[in-house]
Amino acid sequence: MLRQDVNELLTRTGPGTPMGDLFRRYWMPVLLAEELPENDCPPVRVRLLSEDLIAFRDTGGRYGLIEEFCAHRRVSLWFGRNEEHGLRCPYHGWKYDVTGQCLEVPSEPAESGFCAKIKLTAYPLIKVGEVLWAYLGPPEHQPPPPEWEFVRVPAEQTFSSKRLQECNWLQAMEGGIDSSHVTWLHGSSLKSDPLFKGAKGNRYNMSDAQPVFEVAECDGGLLIGARRNAEDGKYYWRITPWVMPCFTMIPPRGDHPVHGHFWTPIDDGNCWAWSYDYHPVRALTAAERQAMEDGQGIHVKYSPGTYRPLANRDNDYLIDRAAQKAGTTYSGVEGIAMQDASLQESMGRIVDRSKENLVSTDNGIIIARRRLRKAALALRDEGVTPPGVDPAHHRVRSVSAVLPPEDEFKEACREELIARPGVAQASV
Ligand code: FES
Ligand SMILES: [Fe+2]
Repeated sequence: MLRQDVNELLTRTGPGTPMGDLFRRYWMPVLLAEELPENDCPPVRVRLLSEDLIAFRDTGGRYGLIEEFCAHRRVSLWFGRNEEHGLRCPYHGWKYDVTGQCLEVPSEPAESGFCAKIKLTAYPLIKVGEVLWAYLGPPEHQPPPPEWEFVRVPAEQTFSSKRLQECNWLQAMEGGIDSSHVTWLHGSSLKSDPLFKGAKGNRYNMSDAQPVFEVAECDGGLLIGARRNAEDGKYYWRITPWVMPCFTMIPPRGDHPVHGHFWTPIDDGNCWAWSYDYHPVRALTAAERQAMEDGQGIHVKYSPGTYRPLANRDNDYLIDRAAQKAGTTYSGVEGIAMQDASLQESMGRIVDRSKENLVSTDNGIIIARRRLRKAALALRDEGVTPPGVDPAHHRVRSVSAVLPPEDEFKEACREELIARPGVAQASV
């Protein structure tokens, strides 16, 4: 369990909060590149860390992320006309560039210099891979661009999606580092999902429901090792890296693409579950890409025209009680992503962690919370740059491996836990 004040500290990310200031030290995924597909395309609403923003791509291809409301009388610039290197408010024609600078106030004489004094808050927005990344922190602390392997491999090797999750970021992220639930909640999907099935490792997952968790610190966060029994006294290890504050990577299965998530706060009651799938050394097959687009694996089917899942809280996630009874899905909800999201949303917008009863399989979660709290306080009180800001911390990989019983997982897999271009993932 967690004290209520600590729960508040970890879950609130609006401006001026300790966790909000922590998040503002990182590049965060905000849009898929497909959402701003061409120069002068329509602007897009972005809500991030409880700030309302507008993203747009100007005539010269520059990306901008500016505060949503016009400096004149606060019209939403989502209605703006994206034209000739700026976004023009349709109410009285004030126009802004990607830096938030006001370029024109048509009702005032140009020589008055009035518009030069008007500037909206703006943040850098950059394209790395097929994802647009924003940095909302102090300009003097802006880190170099992200180096996550899923956005650094060639485009044909990677696929990203995002889905709205209607709960706080932390309980969503905690699902990403809790690999003990896989045996239960996702057991049937391991056998049927095209992006999971067929791996030898799945058998160990299903045959040992009492994994032993060991957690090791690493520079960017944690390595969470789940140990299950394999044959001949050996152990099957699944190693999940968690890089602060919200990057997780699921251990691989066979030669399937490797996948994982970013859990980015929209506000305190909602987050984006960014879901990536990539193969370090080969192109995704047409069948794999199709499965991802169809919402299999960790991806979802959407409500038309949105990034909200088709199965959502308004329709009880399309739960199928007959499938639950028959065991074709363990919870009755279809698909790995919505199996997770349905249960995490059922905890309430912000789960009351003072009422939990944690057990040994929750060790990764307990230590991650402790590190988050420590980093947020060190930043607030001493200005210490948090782990995970340094791009060197991004070059991590998840691992699955069968090891002799005497091996310590972090040492035995030291090389395999580093992302190296052109080297295949270590997987069982
Ligand atoms: S409110 Fe935007 S120009 Fe008047
Ligand atoms: Fe899950």
